[in-house]
Amino acid sequence: MRHFLRDDDLTPAELVEVLDLAAELKAAPYAHKPLEGPQTVAIIFDKPTLRTQASFVAGIAELGGNPMVVDGNLAQIGTRESIADVARVLGRQASLIVWRTHDQSRIDEMAAYAGVPVVNALTDQFHPCQTLADLLTIREHKGDRPGGLAGLTMTFLGDAACNMGHSYLLSGAAAGMHVRVSGPDGFQPDPEILARARAIAAGTGGSAEIVLDPEAASEGADVLITDTWISMGKEAESSDRAEVFRPWQLNEDLLARGADDAIVLHCLPAYRGKEISAGVLDGPQSVIWDEAENRRHAQKAIITWLTR
Ligand code: NVA
Repeated sequence: MRHFLRDDDLTPAELVEVLDLAAELKAAPYAHKPLEGPQTVAIIFDKPTLRTQASFVAGIAELGGNPMVVDGNLAQIGTRESIADVARVLGRQASLIVWRTHDQSRIDEMAAYAGVPVVNALTDQFHPCQTLADLLTIREHKGDRPGGLAGLTMTFLGDAACNMGHSYLLSGAAAGMHVRVSGPDGFQPDPEILARARAIAAGTGGSAEIVLDPEAASEGADVLITDTWISMGKEAESSDRAEVFRPWQLNEDLLARGADDAIVLHCLPAYRGKEISAGVLDGPQSVIWDEAENRRHAQKAIITWLTR
């Protein structure tokens, strides 16, 4: 049984397959009905959501399935009953389980007991559905370069210790990209994930590096990315972070250091004037609305791939 719990659950070759499938599903959204029946997909949220809920619900319906949203606050998974018991129960109702939760160990446990494929819709450590959508978006905007995404430089600015920093390292390395992550002292990626990204990059011709200086990190980048400085669950640290992160704001100065045709991504929600300037977020190099739409196509692809 295959799951999608972190980006490196797909090999580089499988990543290409899933991205190809996403492009195919985007071109013909109603042509494939792998969930016909309809089969039910459970989508559980232990944290806030907008894009993830909307894109999974719409996408599962387009695949012929029945999306069943489960409120994690009501279910109280791991408190009211064990993760293993919830997994066994939901696995008897649904063909696949999608979960947004806290620590990665929770979704690992869900996958161990569910008996159906489990997809990570964001944990504290990874957000692999977002990076699938992002790679699809980069492909679309960078055209048919020889080698696809390979060789492009992708820079992530901000909280490099957060789920997005980790997921860009792993997924970008798998795509053969040169991934740079840049954040303040104390906000660096987990060394084990960086090492894993480097091991993947060794096989794809990509690279994975920490570049502390945000200006150097942005130099010549084909793709410039940021994310909120305050991830869900870190709200108590918001006042301390605002000043520390200021030099990493993705603004006109940093964008000017990127390639002339650099594109800007942001997984949203965005805070204009904080991690990104309004001019950059709403400017001509931003492809964030395509990126948000592509969540649906990318997630349809991973669901189709896992249940095929
Ligand atoms: N790093 C952010 C991503 C939001 C989609 C968070 O975890 O809140």
